[in-house]
Amino acid sequence: MTKQVSSAFDAMIGHHKALVQGVNSRVENITLEKKDGKDAGRSIGDFAAYFRAEIIPHAYAEEEVIYARALIYPDLTQLIAQMKAEHEVLIAHVTTLESLSASDITSDSVQEIASLFENHVAKENELILPRLDSDAEVGLAELLDNMHKVLERLSANEQVLDATQIAPRERHEKIFETFGGLAPGQGFVLQNDHDPKPLRYQFEAELPGQFTWDPIEAGPERWRIRICRSA
Ligand SMILES: [Fe+2]
Ligand SMILES: [Fe+2]
Repeated sequence: MTKQVSSAFDAMIGHHKALVQGVNSRVENITLEKKDGKDAGRSIGDFAAYFRAEIIPHAYAEEEVIYARALIYPDLTQLIAQMKAEHEVLIAHVTTLESLSASDITSDSVQEIASLFENHVAKENELILPRLDSDAEVGLAELLDNMHKVLERLSANEQVLDATQIAPRERHEKIFETFGGLAPGQGFVLQNDHDPKPLRYQFEAELPGQFTWDPIEAGPERWRIRICRSA
């Protein structure tokens, strides 16, 4: 007997498949160029940009919507923690990639990131989504809808600045520098592993009336604040 799945389930699986293909096709370009001894700089940039534009926002939306809902099952707690950690690892890999020059990046290292992502997605497809889809209490269609809302919000030209990826002594400087680069009305999302209260005080002292501060997520493990330059 084949199991009935919802159209939202199919849509999520389909989107995952598209993301995996998006990553793998970029890896293929890099691998071919490296093999031919060509400069793969542009393809590597394209690979990293795809993560920034598609994969990382997807991961954030998923954590906020899908993973948060999956936590109703106590036996999935550990898996969800592991999945979040994998998101962090992927982001860290991409950040590293962006900091290196093309000649120092091997096709094996991008292949490794792609494999990590493919395995990660397989777990979502096999262990998390079917569970939610077969639960009458959970409306997967609504979750998908919520995920789209989060993605829309994220894609509104917003940059995400992960404070945990910046050395502590450079953190505030880097954050103010990012703010300084914003046009009126523009913003970015600051992500941190603790409540960035001192930073808020510093903003208030140095830029009174010039910014908005909107918490999107407030702990216990992650804080995300949308900081905008007032229009
Ligand atoms: Fe994920
Ligand atoms: Fe996913």
